[in-house]
Amino acid sequence: MKGNFNRAAFILPEKENHNMKKLFLRSLPVALLGAMMMTGTAQAVDPEDAIEYRQGVFKAFSWNFGPMAGMAQGEIPFNEEMFLERADQLARLADMPWQGFTEGSDLGETDAMMEVWEDQETWEQKIADFEEEVSRMTALIDEGADEMQLRRQAGEIGQSCKACHDSFRAD
Ligand code: HEC
Repeated sequence: MKGNFNRAAFILPEKENHNMKKLFLRSLPVALLGAMMMTGTAQAVDPEDAIEYRQGVFKAFSWNFGPMAGMAQGEIPFNEEMFLERADQLARLADMPWQGFTEGSDLGETDAMMEVWEDQETWEQKIADFEEEVSRMTALIDEGADEMQLRRQAGEIGQSCKACHDSFRAD
């Protein structure tokens, strides 16, 4: 069986090939396996991927928050169904960008300022402020708050976006 390994792996269909791979990994010396896993980790935090990831989530923030802000400011008519849908989606995204600010992703095609990495305490505070305003919105919706309350809270969320951008985003 072992002697035929290479040939078997080559000929076997995808799924069995995968099983063979697992078998193969299990028999690897631990140190070599560790080295392979570390390579995997390094690839997982490719700075360019991290930058693209967080910018993508921020774009999704805008998609959802844009109409909410427009309604808050009276630029577009209040549409409750849309407001609630976007608020719900924003709440689901709210904690997602931050893991994209990995070590080493301060350089590249990014508008993030060095302060993100140099002043972690303030950074964490701005994240907490933002997430709190988003949670407050969810609570208001659950309580059946009226249009004015919802629009006012959208204003508070917008302020927390801006407060972070003022300190941590170059534009
Ligand atoms: C805790 C800080 C923080 C909060 C809160 C925050 N942002 Fe940002 N945002 C950033 C940083 C930093 C960048 C720059 C990211 C980069 O270029 O790597 C950014 C970038 C963006 C971008 C540009 C993305 C691109 O295409 O490059 C948009 C749009 C955006 N934010 C929208 C929002 C909106 C809308 C909110 C609130 C609903 C918000 N952000 C809340 C820190 C924050």
